[in-house]
Amino acid sequence: MTSENNLVKRGEEMEDTLSPFAFLRPQLDRVEKLIRAQAEEFDPAVEPYVGYILNTSGKRIRPALTFLAGGATGEVTDDHQKLAVVLELIHVATLVHDDIIDGAEIRRQAPTANAKWGDALSVLLGDCLFSHALMLSTEFDDREIGRRVAISANAVCSGEIIQTQRRFDMKLSKEDYFDIIEKKTAALFASAMELGARLNGSSDAVCETLREFGLSIGTAYQIYDDCIDLIGEETEFGKTLRTDLNKGKLTLPILNLLESSSEKQREKLHRLLIQKEPLDVSALANIADYVGSIEAAIDTGQDLIGKSRACLTVLDDGDHKEALEGIADFLDTLLEGCRQ
Ligand code: IPE
Ligand code: IPE
Ligand code: MG
Ligand code: MG
Repeated sequence: MTSENNLVKRGEEMEDTLSPFAFLRPQLDRVEKLIRAQAEEFDPAVEPYVGYILNTSGKRIRPALTFLAGGATGEVTDDHQKLAVVLELIHVATLVHDDIIDGAEIRRQAPTANAKWGDALSVLLGDCLFSHALMLSTEFDDREIGRRVAISANAVCSGEIIQTQRRFDMKLSKEDYFDIIEKKTAALFASAMELGARLNGSSDAVCETLREFGLSIGTAYQIYDDCIDLIGEETEFGKTLRTDLNKGKLTLPILNLLESSSEKQREKLHRLLIQKEPLDVSALANIADYVGSIEAAIDTGQDLIGKSRACLTVLDDGDHKEALEGIADFLDTLLEGCRQ
């Protein structure tokens, strides 16, 4: 390793030690190994595909939330490790399917399953990952955990189905949009928080409030992702972007744009949005207040983060609560960074 690389590495280590999440490192390292080891549990004919998918490095947000909810309400146990693996596998399964639907070629800085092996195999690969996660979720002593995991997996799929049904539907309301993203994204954040606490025998009130935290932060995260799809750089985010509009997903910035337009502008926008040809987003900016529409989406995301912070008052002070506040602050900063 060159001295320059050494310096970069030392900088990263220092950053890690200073970060409010540094104490999570051993748990995240362990779950990383557990996730990657799942490939061995599959049929030898299937293992190489699963191995490829599970060896990509995601941010592991859902496992981190599981550990934080666990640590904030008691001990982080082997059951939390298992729950973290289950939720991450469900998440990965939905990404494999989502990339087929979106025709995306890059995910986590690597070719997607559909780009490598085609849609047919990738649909089945996603199914294998889903079913493996649900099988693992039956192994908890508290059977309610498995039941609730299955309900949230069902919500994620329903969200993706509704989104697909409503592609290019100019009648999609904001209420519809929030329903979709709560299901497809926030449901898993909510389960990580709720079930992380439930594994420690927390009261229904605490579980429910942490669930609310997950719902708000998960919804804000999808709003952030929807802004990034319009304004982000693929090299920075390591995934195919600009698919939402071309696939007819009307996300919050676009719904804001339509809402703030005059009748005439709206007609033009409708025509542009429903044309089934690749769309250059700058064309939108020539018609109506595109920047203002992104700003308004950022405001909504930041309001949700404010709501999520209020939920944390149910927790005792300590590292875990601080780290959850840190996640809210971090997402707030990411959203702020989307202002142009
Ligand atoms: C991507 O989720 C899909 C959305 C919910 C926006 P992440 O941003 O958590 O993806 P990975 O796991 O880090 O790749
Ligand atoms: C999130 O939607 C996908 C799921 C929750 C399954 P997106 O389609 O916006 O996610 P990315 O941008 O492809 O990661
Ligand atoms: Mg997608
Ligand atoms: Mg997206």
